[in-house]
Amino acid sequence: MNTFHPPFLKEVARRVGLKKYPHVKQFVVQHLYEDTLRLLLLLHDYVSISVVISISYSGNEEVIVALRKKGIRVLTPGFHEIDQVIVNELTHCFKACEAEQQKLLIHEVGGYTIRLLHEKFEAYLHHVIGAVEVTKQGVWEARKLTTLKIPQLNCAETKLKEIEGNMVGESVVASLDQILRAIGYAMVGRKACVFGYGWVGSGVAGALRARGMAVSVFDTDVIKLVEASVNGFQVLKSAKEVTDCNILIGASGHRSITREVIDSLASRCFLVSGSSKDKEIEVAYLTSLATNTKKIHPHIQHYTLKDNRELLLVNEGYPVNFTGSSVPDEIVEFLFAELIILVKILLEETPAPGIYPLAPELEKIPAAVWLEMR
Ligand SMILES: NC(=O)c1ccc[n+]([C@@H]2O[C@H](COP(=O)([O-])OP(=O)(O)OC[C@H]3O[C@@H](n4cnc5c(N)ncnc54)[C@H](O)[C@@H]3O)[C@@H](O)[C@H]2O)c1
Repeated sequence: MNTFHPPFLKEVARRVGLKKYPHVKQFVVQHLYEDTLRLLLLLHDYVSISVVISISYSGNEEVIVALRKKGIRVLTPGFHEIDQVIVNELTHCFKACEAEQQKLLIHEVGGYTIRLLHEKFEAYLHHVIGAVEVTKQGVWEARKLTTLKIPQLNCAETKLKEIEGNMVGESVVASLDQILRAIGYAMVGRKACVFGYGWVGSGVAGALRARGMAVSVFDTDVIKLVEASVNGFQVLKSAKEVTDCNILIGASGHRSITREVIDSLASRCFLVSGSSKDKEIEVAYLTSLATNTKKIHPHIQHYTLKDNRELLLVNEGYPVNFTGSSVPDEIVEFLFAELIILVKILLEETPAPGIYPLAPELEKIPAAVWLEMR
């Protein structure tokens, strides 16, 4: 593990007075990078981890080895197996909770477990203290549930998360740039389009402009289009106006690159996700149009379509910034510090079912520690 890094998370845990909670186990669904390793090893000292399920399109083998060395069970399912693995593991965990009189704390990114708990484990929800969640996707999953039956505490919509979102935009473009350079392709002087001008998308658009691209923006929210316009971007009134772009990046968190959009693209356009999971691009439709496909780089699939257009899919439609190291650890860590505070609140205040964002005044703790220690 990188020893250069300051013990920032440890200091936040100390300042907020995190204690050991021997009657609680953690059920974790996470990306596995060095920053998550630091978070998990720290939290494991306070709330023992039953299992870590890694999100398959991200992660790093050394982290898995390091967690296993500490005796932590780690599973690495493929993306399409993750639901089944979570169901299997929850089944085991609930049996153990019953036998050992323990409660379960869900710690996740992406809302996989909260959805499955409500779909398949209603009778066991009394064993669950609640969930802590880092991503907007996870909060959106909780909001979709007709009746949320556990508390979900999140740091997905905080000011520090907004700051991180902008850095994610830069990471998305940096990762893409690195991949494109490897095939001899220059971004500069070309046209890019960004779908979704939120926290991540506005960062993506700015980073593309900084690399000398002509950038257009489309968002389903007209106010966001006004914002993009006053920030100097050309705006599209319809997603189908993408006809002349060379690089299309979806950063909406939804299915924005639909079949209609794919039908409108010019030949040799790159399709890229800058958001979550396989949300952004209708890959199955793209595949159905192909007469031939080949890998031209470990992260680029080249498709020749029935109408002779060529399209290039980056990282199989998963977020491009997970191909390498994404946002610098010290940026992600201020969110992990917020998560530590959420764990303490969840365990000590045991809130009623509902969605609870971290209070703005509590954000000042990790912000202050971060500035002192960096
Ligand atoms: N890849 C990463 O490392 C990473 C990091 C942080 C967040 N994320 C994910 O990125 C996604 C975006 O996050 P955010 O914080 O920017 O969200 P946000 O809510 O701030 O922005 C999303 C924007 O997309 C727009 N939008 C929604 N549907 C659209 C569509 N079909 N077409 C065009 N625009 C549409 C919305 O109006 C909104 O302006 C989320 O899924 C989030 O979980 C990914």
